[in-house]
Amino acid sequence: MTVTVKPLKDGFGAEIAGIDLSRPVGGEDRDAVYGAFLDHHLIIIRGQALSAEQVTAAARIFGDKLEPHLFEHFHHPDTPLIMVLSNRVEDGKPKGMADAGSFWHTDVSYKPNPAKATMLYALEVPDDGGDTLFCNLTAAYEALPEAMKSRLDGLRAVHDYAYLPRDVFTSGKVTPPPDCSQPLIRTHPETGLKAIYISPAYIVRIEGLADDDSEALKKEIYDHCLHDRFRMRFKWRTGDVVAWDNAALMHSATTKELDPAKPRTLWRATISGGPVF
Ligand code: SIN
Repeated sequence: MTVTVKPLKDGFGAEIAGIDLSRPVGGEDRDAVYGAFLDHHLIIIRGQALSAEQVTAAARIFGDKLEPHLFEHFHHPDTPLIMVLSNRVEDGKPKGMADAGSFWHTDVSYKPNPAKATMLYALEVPDDGGDTLFCNLTAAYEALPEAMKSRLDGLRAVHDYAYLPRDVFTSGKVTPPPDCSQPLIRTHPETGLKAIYISPAYIVRIEGLADDDSEALKKEIYDHCLHDRFRMRFKWRTGDVVAWDNAALMHSATTKELDPAKPRTLWRATISGGPVF
């Protein structure tokens, strides 16, 4: 099989064909997939049929170390390295997390070493609804006026997983990690490209600014990043594998609005990253 990489029309993201993730991916094929991930920030591989073990093996294309999600009650029964996202309920028990985050965020930005990449594999998706939204924070940085780039450079923000009140935290079911400070502008460790580093769902404040100024600057940055030209909506098909670079993009689920009668089940693997610079 020959691997082909076809960029999407939205300005970022690429669809890769000619890869069967149920088999080990090495050598030139691995380089092609990883290269596309770095170049396009998000890759889509369609038509896969994978076991849990094959999903974790595929996720290691993007990094050696995978990490379990904090919400242990949604771990896959065979491996904590897969989190089950599902709105199915069996015997009165949720089969997975129905809404993993219908708000803009960058995975694990609330820890000193956030997730490098995230990979999702779609086992069942509705014909309509349950799309995932992505926002290109590298392009958003490049489009900033020079004066704004200089203003943001060196600023830091406090990220807290429990910034938005959620039942899991208020019920005491999950204890969020301590908040942490991250730069507002980050440099990609491999491509050297700069990106705005935001997680609107987790950012409490911008350090060193009065509350009003921090809120005003947050709004200005979010409004800029969330402009249509930096965004795309991904419509899932069963068998899709999507992996994205958390140093370049932020994302949002739309599952809060999904009709619970329309089953949607995905498996998620999180690839560990290092500190943000
Ligand atoms: C996520 O935020 O990782 C999940 C995205 C989705 O379910 O669409």
